[in-house]
This record gives sequence, C-alpha cells and structure tokens, in this order.
Amino acid sequence: MIIMSTKIIFLFIWFISKGTCDLSQLLNLEFANSGISKAGDVYQWKQLPCSYLESQNVTTIQQNWANYKKFNYLFQEKNGELIPPPSGIRSSVPLGGISTGVIELRADGTFHEWTIVNQSPAGAGKFQVFDDAFFAIRETISNNIKLKSINGVNEMKRPSSRAFSIRTGPPEGIPGVQAIEYGGEFPVSRLKIQDTRLSVNTELLAYSSYFVNDMESSAKPAISFTFNLENPTSNSISIDLLLNMPIDIEKGYERTSSQNGQGGPPVTAKPVRIITNLSDDVSCSDECQRSNDCSTWTFYKSTKQCKIYNTVNLNTFNEDASSGLKGSWQIDSVDQNMDCVSLVRPGNMGPNGNFSLCGVKDTGVQFSYGSFRHLQHLWEMFERDGSFSRSDIQHSHGAIMMNTLLKPGEKKLVTFIISWYYPHRDFVNKIYGNYYQNLFSDSLHVAKEMRDSLPSLAASISGIHKTFLDSTLPSWLSDLFVNSLSHIRTAIWFKDGRWRQWEATDCVNIDSVHNDGERHIPYITMYPESTKNKIRAWAKSQQANGMIPEQLRCNAGGPTSEIDTPCGRKMSDVSSMLMVYILEMYQWGGDVDLLKEMYPVIIKAADWHINTTGSYGIPINLQNTYDILALNAYTFSAYNSAFHLLAMKVAEHLARAMSDTPRALKYKQAYEKGVVGMDKYLWNSTMNYYNSYGSISSSGELHTVGALMTDTFYAQVLAFSLGLGPLVDEKKLNTHMDAELRYNDSPYGMLVQTRRYKYPGPPQDNAVWMMGNPNWATIKIHLKANPQEALLVAKKSLDRWRSVLNDQWNVAGIMGGLGYGAEGQPYITSHYGYFMSSWHLIFALSRQQTDLTPSKSFLRFDPSVNSPYTLPFLLPGSIGTVSRDGSRITLTLLSGKNLDVAEVEVSGSRFPFRVSLKAGGSIFWKV
Ligand SMILES: *[C@@H]1O[C@H](CO)[C@@H](O)[C@H](O)[C@H]1NC(C)=O
Ligand SMILES: *[C@@H]1O[C@H](CO)[C@@H](O)[C@H](O)[C@H]1NC(C)=O
Ligand SMILES: *[C@@H]1O[C@H](CO)[C@@H](O)[C@H](O)[C@H]1NC(C)=O
Ligand SMILES: *[C@@H]1O[C@H](CO)[C@@H](O)[C@H](O)[C@H]1NC(C)=O
Ligand SMILES: *[C@@H]1O[C@H](CO)[C@@H](O)[C@H](O)[C@H]1NC(C)=O
Repeated sequence: MIIMSTKIIFLFIWFISKGTCDLSQLLNLEFANSGISKAGDVYQWKQLPCSYLESQNVTTIQQNWANYKKFNYLFQEKNGELIPPPSGIRSSVPLGGISTGVIELRADGTFHEWTIVNQSPAGAGKFQVFDDAFFAIRETISNNIKLKSINGVNEMKRPSSRAFSIRTGPPEGIPGVQAIEYGGEFPVSRLKIQDTRLSVNTELLAYSSYFVNDMESSAKPAISFTFNLENPTSNSISIDLLLNMPIDIEKGYERTSSQNGQGGPPVTAKPVRIITNLSDDVSCSDECQRSNDCSTWTFYKSTKQCKIYNTVNLNTFNEDASSGLKGSWQIDSVDQNMDCVSLVRPGNMGPNGNFSLCGVKDTGVQFSYGSFRHLQHLWEMFERDGSFSRSDIQHSHGAIMMNTLLKPGEKKLVTFIISWYYPHRDFVNKIYGNYYQNLFSDSLHVAKEMRDSLPSLAASISGIHKTFLDSTLPSWLSDLFVNSLSHIRTAIWFKDGRWRQWEATDCVNIDSVHNDGERHIPYITMYPESTKNKIRAWAKSQQANGMIPEQLRCNAGGPTSEIDTPCGRKMSDVSSMLMVYILEMYQWGGDVDLLKEMYPVIIKAADWHINTTGSYGIPINLQNTYDILALNAYTFSAYNSAFHLLAMKVAEHLARAMSDTPRALKYKQAYEKGVVGMDKYLWNSTMNYYNSYGSISSSGELHTVGALMTDTFYAQVLAFSLGLGPLVDEKKLNTHMDAELRYNDSPYGMLVQTRRYKYPGPPQDNAVWMMGNPNWATIKIHLKANPQEALLVAKKSLDRWRSVLNDQWNVAGIMGGLGYGAEGQPYITSHYGYFMSSWHLIFALSRQQTDLTPSKSFLRFDPSVNSPYTLPFLLPGSIGTVSRDGSRITLTLLSGKNLDVAEVEVSGSRFPFRVSLKAGGSIFWKV
C-alpha cells in the first residue's frame, strides 16, 4: 500500500478483498429484469409475417433452422387480447459453457432450446423442449403443529407433505406452483417460487461457466443449479427436491438420418427391423436396448411402429414420433462428495456420449438417484417419500432427489449439477470433435471440475455483472450488455483448436467478417484469443488480389463438408474490417507480434481496397452487410465509401506502426482522395446529408434520387472507438446524422432507407435494422450531443426487445417496419449480433482511448457524462470500471488478465505512477 500526496494529487492504492470465495457472491447478484409467470396463464402461438427467422421445430438435417415468410410467435392471451408474455417465456438465458451447447430454463420452469448433443445447422436439429424435464419441491413440516381447535380439542396433525413441480404449466397429472418470478443476467437464470402453500422461501440459481480471458475454464459442458432455501417459520421443515431429466426418450423427434462420419449429405437410414403394435415409446426403447444390432430407435404414435436401426441417426422434429439411441442409465460415485446418475450412450458419432445428473453433498444434505419408466411412478414416489427407496434403473426418466432439514430461521444452499460429454462433434457428417475433449475425460469428470470451480465461478460472474450493473449506465442498457454475452451460444470450438461461429442458425454462414465485426466488441474483450483465432483464419483465406473473402463457409451453394471453405461476395466491410481488428489488437491489446505477422496481409488488403475505387476515389459497386438493400447495384454507396475511408485511415496507422512511411503516405493520399470523391458524388447540398447511393450512367452523368440510409456511418463508429477521429468533415457528419433521425425515424427505430421508394415502400427499405439506432447514438455522443438524449434514440429499438417484446435472449437482426403486419416485431434472422454494435456506446460515454503498445502504454478517459459516474472500461482480456465522485477518481479492474500500463488519465488528470493491477485491484486519486 502506498499513500502519498502531491500538490494536486492525493492517491491511494488498494485491493478489494476478494471475500471468502464461496457461493455467497451468487446471492448478491443483481437482476435488472423480471417476468412473472403464473399458473393459469394462457400462452399461444400467433402467426406473423417475416422474411425468415429461426424455427421452433427443426425438421431438417444439415440445413438452416429457418422459417420463411411466416413464423409462430408466442403471445399471452389476457382479457381476450394477445400481449407479449412475461420476460423469460419467449426466451431466457442460454445455459452451458462456451461452445458446449446450451439449454434455456424458462420462466415457467420448462427447459428449452437444447443443443448440447452437438446439434447445429451442420448436423441435427435442436430439441425444442423436454416437457417432462422439471424440478420439484416437497415440504414436510416435521414439528407437530397445533391445528385450530376443533370441538374444543386441540388436534395434533401428522407431519404433512406437499409436493409441487417448479412449473407454472406442469406436465399432466402433476401439480405446479402458483407463480415463478424470472430474472436473467447471463450466465445466470434466477427462478423465485411464489406460492402461498409453501412455507420456505425458495430461489433457484441456474448458471454456467464464464471466465473473462479464460476460454478453457469457460468451456465446461455443464450447468449448475443452486437452490437458495430459507425457512422463515418457527418450525423445522424438511425439504425434498427433485430433478427429473427424461432425455432418454426424445418425444417429438424422429431419428431417421444416418451418420457414418465420412462426410457428405444426409442419408435416409434403413431400419434393420420394424416392430408393429408396440404399446409405447418406452417399449420401443426397451427393444433397442435388448437388440445387439440396435444403435437408434424411432417409435411412431399413430402407427405404433417401432423402427430399429443399426446406424447412429440424427434427430429432427416430428410431432408423431419419439426416438432415442442405445444407452442406459447408471449410477456412479465421483468422489465422497458427489454421486451422479448418467445416461450412457456408447458410440463414436455426434449423438453418442454421456449426460450426468449430480448432487453436491453437504452437511445434512442427502441425495438419492434412480431412473424410471413412467413419470407417474416417479412422481408418486417423490410425493410419498421424497426419495428413492431403491436404486431402480430403468429407461426414460433419470432423476435425483435431495433431502435436507431446515431448522427455524435456517438458510441453506443446495447444488445440483448437470454435465454432458458428447466429444464427437459432427459437422456435415464428418466427425471433427469438440475442443472440450482435450479438457475432460467424460461427463463425471466435467461434473467434478464444475463443482470444484463453483466458488471462483461465482466470483467471476459477480465481477462481470458488477462491471455493468453497478455502473451509472441506464439499467436497461447494462442489462442488455450483460445478456448480449449469450450470443456466444452459437460458437463451435473444434478439437483441433479452431474457434468458429455461425452467422446465425437461420442464416448459416460461418464467420462472415462483417457480421463478426458488428458483434465483436464483447468477444475481443472477453476472449481476445477467440478473435485472434479467427483473424488468422481470415488472413489465410486472402485471395491473390488481396481481397479477404466474405466468410469462412457459405450458406449458398449447398453444404460442403469442409469447415474452412472461404467464399462470398465483393464487400466493402470485410477486408477493411480485418484491418480494423488488427489495429485494435495492436493498440488496445499491445499485440505487436500479431501486427508483424499480419503486415503482409494488410498491405495486400489495403491495395485491393484502393483498387476498388477506380478513378473516383471511392469504391464502386461493392456489396456490404446491408445486403438486402442491394447497394452494389449502384456505382457508389455512402456506406461503402465510409468503410473505404476507414480502411485507408487504419492502413495508414498500421503502416506507421511498422515504420513504413511510404505506404503510410500512400494510404493517407487514398484517404484524402476518398473524402473528395465522397463529397463530389454523394453529398446532397440541398438536403445536407450524404445520399445513400448514386450511379454514373453510360453517358457519364451522375444519377441520384436523394435516398437516405440509416447507419450510413457505421464505419465512423469503428473509427471513433479507435481514436481515428471524424472520417469526413465534422459539420457534414453532424447534419447527416440529424437528417437520419429526422427523416427515417419510426415508432420502433429508424427505417433502414427512405426516399428510394415512395413512402412507405417495400420491406427491403421499410424495416428497422438493429445497428441503426445504437450506432446513431454512438456517433452523436462522440460529436458532443447530449448523451442522455442520444441514448434515448438507442433505447427506442434496443429496449423494445427487453421491455416490450420481452424477448431479450433472442434479439433478431431486423424488425418489421410500417404497414405490412410486422410492425416492430422480429422480421429477419434470430439470435443475431447486429444489436451488439451497441457496445461501442461504452467507448463513446467514457471516451476511452487505449494504446497498450510498449512505446505508448496509456489508458485515457474523457467521459462525456458529468460526475458522479461509474462507467465500464473494456480491454482485450480484462474489464473494470472508471468512476468519479467529486474530485475523487477510481479505476478498478474487475475481471480478467492483469493490467499493466504506464499512464492512466481521466479528464486530463493523470495518476502519477505506472499502474499494475490484478482483478479486484483499484487505484484512486484526487484531481
Ligand atoms: C412445434 O410443435 C409443437 C408440437 O406439435 C407445437 O405444439 C408447436 O406449436 C410448434 N411450434 C411452433 C412455433 O409452431
Ligand atoms: C395389432 O393389434 C390389433 C389389436 O390388438 C390387432 O387387431 C392387429 O391384428 C395387430 N396387428 C398386428 C400386425 O399384429
Ligand atoms: C460414458 O460413461 C461410460 C461409463 O462410465 C464410460 O465408460 C464412457 O467412457 C463414457 N463415455 C463418454 C463418451 O463419456
Ligand atoms: C490493382 O490494380 C492495378 C491496375 O489494374 C494492378 O496492376 C494491381 O495488380 C492491382 N493490385 C491488386 C492488389 O490487385
Ligand atoms: C437531394 O435530396 C433530395 C431529396 O431526396 C432529392 O430530391 C435531390 O435529388 C437530391 N439532390 C442531389 C444532388 O442528390
């Protein structure tokens, strides 16, 4: 500890105590959203128009999970009206380690969106729901309770038990609870039971691994469920909990596409046997377990046919079917503190592997394990005894029951873990394997590692949440930031170390550079190694002419078995974006080596960019991420031109960093030529904005209609975050931004383009893309607009997902516009990263400028908000907050790798020493 004062500065270095490293940090988590699901709520699907969106029921193998033209959206029926259901019903936090598959525990207690068995658009369909999967609670008041005096005699009551599934819409024949309050802050879902018939206060925290800058620790295929139980009464209460996972029998799915691991299109499997007249799916499963030649079974309700296959088949949705694989439940002891019941499905294809349900033993907490044939039997046993009397092992339902006694006033934490191990990740019928097999030997091993990591996981989650939720950012925005981290659900980490991600599961390109770029700030912050992994793949894909292909694998043209098969269109925002990434890694992360390694690639990419401009100074006929607008049909586009200006600025900086003065000069001249070209061909001096596009006719004339595109200047957002300043004349930029809002606004956000067609025009232009509003706010804040007012513009489209649609874990790329039945509703592409460009708002609000290269080494802030404030800061691999209260300034590193920087400065006031901080560490000083 150093205490010192100078004329102007008083400073003090200290470390926040990390606390007692237990799970209590979980109990102090804040939740900035809430939805209450009630028994008797009526939810129903309503068909809405769309272009395409992710389907609920996936009926295809190795293809898009998409619905076209129409989709079903879930609503709540209330007083004869259809309204959005409570938060946590349409979507909820996806749980599961990074790249391991996920499950969503919804506000009504159901488990949805299962992708843990290697499901992806390159393989089998997701499981939408296992309706019989649930938690349940049973309460027994064990002290004798005096009942009301009946006939003057005080009757003593026998211990009485009540059991309820933790579901508001329970499976048939099983009682549910009265209400559940849901809150979700990635990677945590919290379900609070509200039921006047229960005496204990019960909340369930479900969470999975996420450690800043530590991909391996974050890649645990497991979910932890911690019950926080409190007995507020003056009686002792015996509590039993049940977790039932009926994943053996996949109701609503058939398995008819065989896998041989050799690659190629899906093959319809031929059954080795068809058994007719079987009574039910469990019997069909029995048949499979009995047969030596069975690997997969499917049972059809309508025909009562049981089909037995000797191939390992992939699942797709079929309401009439149930299916499964050869496999059985078994009970294992992991160590003296944990046992598990596991579904073991031997084999070496995508769906083969193990799934475990485990209980973490603690003083006074007992678990029993079993598996059951029929739900009713299981329920009767739980209702009656609260435990398995014998270790029954049958097909269908694997379950754990837990018992503990809560004394009057006592609180207790009880933890269940589910873990899985499906190592043979398939990708278009080739087995590439999951990275996690390099870390674990099977699901029991995963469960043990998960349990051992719980205290540090709780601390990690708390640090991440604090960075955002304890800041002075509006809570709608910090809530959205934290939950946007769930976008990582579609990442794949192959055994060989390649880290890749879908554009979306309904738009199944892999790592399109532009789409990655739009969502990249949280990725480069939380897992910079994942970003470097892709940078190298993109660089490797560079064409001879210097162009970086759009993406690493394409949707169009049919599936190919290779993961990295670069392809795509001629884009303005791809080769440029790769250079942006490298400058960020260099400047923000001090990664000098990466720049040196990539410089040859940069030179060629920059030259390609210059070559796209012909004699005009700005690129001609390029495509970009706003591809539906088809701006490549016009000679010039302002969006593309701004990306070119960005590319040249970035290239100039990179050349300078390499002391390559001739090239730096060349890029600078190209930039200057670009500004002249943009003003000449695109500036509309009548309207004071940049036209979206313009074309040169064969006779050499310039044609424009004065169309105005929202988010013309996304490139400017990237430039500001890197400290590159305005790309065009600042006054023009400012009036352009004002025009976007004035002319393009709608009740749901800005329409993507106006004035090409007569208002309202077709959905092509009349739709709300999710980058528009936040990028507008970012630029305006950098241009010194009132930050609160600018944030309201961002809020209009962003908070709609959170507060109106109640669907913030499934933000689409595009919302419907005006007049065609999809007003402000999801319209194109689910679980999409566009809205994550909003992370640049953080840099705009704090005006963070970072240069961690050894020769510079500074971290500076010049916040655009007034004191007092606490704002997040983001660096590749670490996060923290910078705050000011009066004259006192504090910088706290909350999570991730150590910070070592020569100079920290806030609003011109510099901390007088070199700063070296570990997670949890702080410095403060006075101005
Ligand atoms: C998916 O299938 C189930 C079972 O047939 C059905 O109830 C549900 O409505 C379907 N979901 C959608 C979104 O159509
Ligand atoms: C199936 O069962 C029904 C009713 O028990 C019987 O009439 C029918 O003959 C059986 N079909 C076959 C193929 O065994
Ligand atoms: C699954 O569990 C079985 C039995 O414990 C074990 O032999 C096997 O190696 C495990 N397989 C996988 C893929 O985890
Ligand atoms: C750019 O264009 C010029 C002239 O057409 C050509 O000589 C040069 O090779 C091109 N450069 C790249 C990187 O494609
Ligand atoms: C400027 O925009 C207006 C309104 O859209 C349009 O009518 C006009 O043609 C545009 N002028 C130029 C020079 O692009």
